[in-house]
Amino acid sequence: MNDRLQRVLRGEPVDRPPVWFMRQAGRYLPEYRAVRAGTTFLGMCRSPDLACEVTVQPVVRFGLDAAIVFSDILVVLEAIGREITFEAGEGPRILEPVRSASDAASLRRPDVADALPVVPQTFARFKKILPEVPILGFAGAPFTLLCYLVEGSGSKEWAHVKRLLWSDPVTARSILDLLADVVGDYLELQASTGAAAVQMFDTWAGVLSPEMYREFALPAAQRALARVKSAPRIYYTKDSAPVLDQLRSTGADVIGLDWRVDLGKARKVLGDVKVQGNLDPVALFAPEAEIRRQVRQILTAGGPGHIFNLGHGILPETPISGVEAMVDEVKRFTY
Ligand code: CP3
Repeated sequence: MNDRLQRVLRGEPVDRPPVWFMRQAGRYLPEYRAVRAGTTFLGMCRSPDLACEVTVQPVVRFGLDAAIVFSDILVVLEAIGREITFEAGEGPRILEPVRSASDAASLRRPDVADALPVVPQTFARFKKILPEVPILGFAGAPFTLLCYLVEGSGSKEWAHVKRLLWSDPVTARSILDLLADVVGDYLELQASTGAAAVQMFDTWAGVLSPEMYREFALPAAQRALARVKSAPRIYYTKDSAPVLDQLRSTGADVIGLDWRVDLGKARKVLGDVKVQGNLDPVALFAPEAEIRRQVRQILTAGGPGHIFNLGHGILPETPISGVEAMVDEVKRFTY
């Protein structure tokens, strides 16, 4: 049994930190591309067999300490009543964005066990194949889901979202409350059907000022995480350095950080909250010796109570040799 992840989550000593990484089941792997070639991205998200197959791939190839279930954060938007599409090379689209109180009135609160059965089904299959490996569940955080719901696609500036927060905060808060309850229920469903821990992705919260983060993203994240009782909770944000002091109050057991944060400093600010991260995904394109140096630096700064990861999802063009060097360097490390 590989219980490094659970031991860190319980605050127990380990020989070295556990290692897994965001988007580990993805296009940088030829075996993922082979499965993907026969279907669509959403087709994979809707099939527990295909989702299980690609979830297993990186764990076996690299000998990782944890799996993350294959799915997407945007499936929750389908469950509340919005159709999503993924066009090749274009990223996600939400067909009818929500930008007003009357748009918001058409959203629904689903029973998550009925509306989102695929991830629990994928856990059951995974546990038959790799019973000794812990598997993580996940969901998007309310604010990050609001970003896609209002904007209708990815964005650099998220102008429609910010305009809604400033022009109609009552409607924005009502949508955040709905998202928080649905996300909280969905994470708890995963926690109670096999997830060793659940991660909530607040990828875009870093576009907010510290004041706006405190007003909108933080209370919604707290509301969602408070609904999760059956497994430890990881909260990930990108560009979170300016709100580091606020992250402690999310209620998460672990804070996932990007590469712009010094792990040693973060540990001082976060106190007894554990940390996850934070190698720059682009570092995997660097010469091998440089990858190993950066990994060692992060392991040293992290210290016990640290889960090794990238600071954001792995890029599709990433050389496999860079991933191998990163994982090997973590495995050579001892506290
Ligand atoms: O980490 C994992 O391996 C688990 C699976 C996972 C995916 N997406 C698979 C995926 C997870 C945890 C996500 C989270 C996710 N999805 C986030 C939050 C984390 C982050 O990376 O910022 C966001 C914002 C999304 C929304 C999303 N899904 C976007 C913007 C895109 C398109 C981006 C792109 O690179 O094309 C996706 C598609 C997606 N989700 C892919 C994968 C493997 C690639 C799609 C494909 O195979 O064609």
